[in-house]
Amino acid sequence: MQIVMRSHYCGEVGESQIGQDVVLCGWVNRRRDLGGVVFVDLRDRSGLVQVVYDPDTAEVFERANRLRAEFCIRIHGKVRPRPAGQVNRDMATGAIEILGKQLEILSEAAPLPLSLDENLKNSEEQRLRFRYLDLRRVEMTQRLKFRARVTSAVRRYLDEHGFLDIETPMLTKATPEGARDYLVPSRTHKGKFFALPQSPQLFKQLLMMAGMDRYYQIVKCFRDEDLRADRQPEFTQIDIETSFMSSDEVMAVTEGMIRSLFREMLGEELPQFPRMTYAEAMRRFGSDKPDLRIPLEFVDIAELVASCGFKVFADAAADSVSRVVALKVPGAAEQISRKTIDELTKFVGVYGAKGLAWLKVNPVDAAEPFTSPVAKFLGAELVGQILATIDAKPGDIVFFGADKSRVVADSMGALRLKLGEMLNLIAPGWAPLWVVEFPMFEEADGRPAALHHPFTAPIHVTAEQLEADPYAANSNAYDMVLNGCEVGGGSVRIYDPQMQSTVFRILGIDAEEAERKFGFLLEALRYGAPPHAGLAFGLDRLVMLMTGASSIRDVMAFPKTTTAACPLTDAPSEANPDQVAELGIRVTPPAPPAAQG
Ligand code: AMO
Ligand code: AMP
Repeated sequence: MQIVMRSHYCGEVGESQIGQDVVLCGWVNRRRDLGGVVFVDLRDRSGLVQVVYDPDTAEVFERANRLRAEFCIRIHGKVRPRPAGQVNRDMATGAIEILGKQLEILSEAAPLPLSLDENLKNSEEQRLRFRYLDLRRVEMTQRLKFRARVTSAVRRYLDEHGFLDIETPMLTKATPEGARDYLVPSRTHKGKFFALPQSPQLFKQLLMMAGMDRYYQIVKCFRDEDLRADRQPEFTQIDIETSFMSSDEVMAVTEGMIRSLFREMLGEELPQFPRMTYAEAMRRFGSDKPDLRIPLEFVDIAELVASCGFKVFADAAADSVSRVVALKVPGAAEQISRKTIDELTKFVGVYGAKGLAWLKVNPVDAAEPFTSPVAKFLGAELVGQILATIDAKPGDIVFFGADKSRVVADSMGALRLKLGEMLNLIAPGWAPLWVVEFPMFEEADGRPAALHHPFTAPIHVTAEQLEADPYAANSNAYDMVLNGCEVGGGSVRIYDPQMQSTVFRILGIDAEEAERKFGFLLEALRYGAPPHAGLAFGLDRLVMLMTGASSIRDVMAFPKTTTAACPLTDAPSEANPDQVAELGIRVTPPAPPAAQG
């Protein structure tokens, strides 16, 4: 006869099992000794259930008494209703308990190096060092279970919509997405390296050229870049590519996927996804991923202040790559003290702002109509015009930013988010949108760089026009933004070899380098390449948003630290010298740490 290790999950035992014998396995969440009776909260990934041992069987009772937190055990017992008055409504299984008859200690646990009590905070380092224990916490278990259901739902949706799940190589050639590559040395080709993919971009395009028509993959991507709360060196994309679909169609099918995901997982109906051009997003919010939950936006006032007496404003107004913006916060004048303004001035300074001009509109009966360090430079008449333009009312505070457009976007964009949080202005719920029509190129180190990636198609230009004025062109790219987070991005791709060569040339990749790096793509474009388009979602970010986690590390089983290391396995680590020699590479020992003075 087959031996049954367990009959139920702990969290699944309920009133319908009353009177039944069950066999459960799990961990001792807590053991309490109450007047000769031992209560054990038994936990597995499904939840908790209470097991009671009384002294009827001395041997089992003695064993129950020996139990400590996190022992792994197997129990036999009978399900019974809890006595009147002892029903625990906070616990899913709180209406019943199990009268324990047998108890097997499968593994004892040494005292834990970190607490699993949700109320006690462990350091991030400690949590990652003992991740397998940290993951036993209900909160973490729930998140991983949620993530598994998300990937399952995504697969179901894409399968139903005719997408084929196809794997692409991990040991490959560099795929540029704007970060550094992780390199893997090759033993069989000494001195040569594979790159881990920053995304499957090139392979998914080749799959379209192969006629696969609709592809998806839930896939690891590797990027050696500076990390933040929403970035990891190794993360997962829901990667999608299609042939013969317009950008509208790609947006529709992927928006449908996100919609159905929110419906299925959270029971929420997402609102309309407005479309906003990159130019509009930057103009109104100073960000290409605006958080539309915050009801604050910039108003450009350069025209008004062009000939004013405040040099900071007038100079910026006269400069074609600068701007002057006002950010009005209705009714917040009283809530924002001088001290807070000083702090905010420092805050915007981090983003390069040289100051933070402000103006409070005083109540009608006040001695002065407004309080502001810049009003005297601007003059009452101009202040009146500005306030009329932005429709400011008594009680409002207005902040001003005047600088290069990039500095204004970064500093005032960050200020907008900060004020939203500080003043509790963030509306509840979900605010999705598509940001579309990005510039094809941005200037980096004095030359054009791809804003998206070099395979993105421009809109409405020929290769000649593009080359003549690269900065004027927009790309047929689209990002999905949710609550101020870029959850996905993609584009229509170039499928004309001449256009692709032109883009490489504009990016400063000459014919020889293009051939060496992307020759296989240019070649493939010559054999009947279909028009194709796609996008990729950041799975970790999506799950982070859906679970309300504050970092993507909290929705990944084994994430890396912010310095891209793994405290659990102690990776990265030195390689065995023989192994290194075999790879034909030599390691320069790191410089010794600077002496402490
Ligand atoms: P992109 O570089 O915009 O596009 O990446 C797509 C999405 O992946 C997520 N993401 C990340 N998540 C966690 N950690 C990171 N380091 C990280 N980097 C990116 C983001 C982002 O929106 N090949 C293109 C897609 C395409 O054009 O089809 C690409 O990779 O949520
Ligand atoms: P100053 O004349 O430098 O003392 O600045 C007067 C006011 O303008 C102060 O409140 C500064 O914080 C603010 N300010 C200075 N430079 C800028 C700028 N580039 N953008 C917005 N405000 C500024």
